[in-house]
Amino acid sequence: MTPGNPLKIAAQGCHCEELSEEQKFERLDEILAIYREQPGSLINCLYVAQTIFGHLPDPVLAHVARRLGVPTARVTGVASFYSFFSRQPRGRHTIKVCLGTACYVRGGREIMEVLVRDLGIKAGETTEDGQYTLEVVRCVGACALAPVVLGDDETFRRVRPTKVSEILARFAPSATPSAAPAPVKEVV
Ligand code: FES
Repeated sequence: MTPGNPLKIAAQGCHCEELSEEQKFERLDEILAIYREQPGSLINCLYVAQTIFGHLPDPVLAHVARRLGVPTARVTGVASFYSFFSRQPRGRHTIKVCLGTACYVRGGREIMEVLVRDLGIKAGETTEDGQYTLEVVRCVGACALAPVVLGDDETFRRVRPTKVSEILARFAPSATPSAAPAPVKEVV
């Protein structure tokens, strides 16, 4: 059997947030059964697991290890090594601050300080209400427009610390088209 894209397979008919834990493991097992005979499929399997569970807690890593017949330490090592895997629950929205050289010297550090203060979390953490995950990235290829902040799929350029609250408001739970600021692609 030739497997297709594991993410597509995982997503097919999978409204994962609506599934019980047991159903999530059943869904994961369906995919692992396809990939277990394929050498080098661990990353794909972890990607599927993260798609289904939202993150990769220890029980899920141990389950993947058992099903694939590989040491748990190896699975945990891979999950910890790649930045696109998350061991902790993630927020509904991800705010990323670029702290590459250009962004750092043009105010990225101050922007991060404001976000840390306003959200009450450090980089790599998620707010208690599950709304925001704060992350650091190192250069997203827009140095001429530094400092840069990413909010989910949106890019905010030339951000000033005083405008951070506008960006957060766009992703606030109560944000509505009338309450939230207009789309801000360049926050000067
Ligand atoms: S350093 Fe931030 S975009 Fe290049």
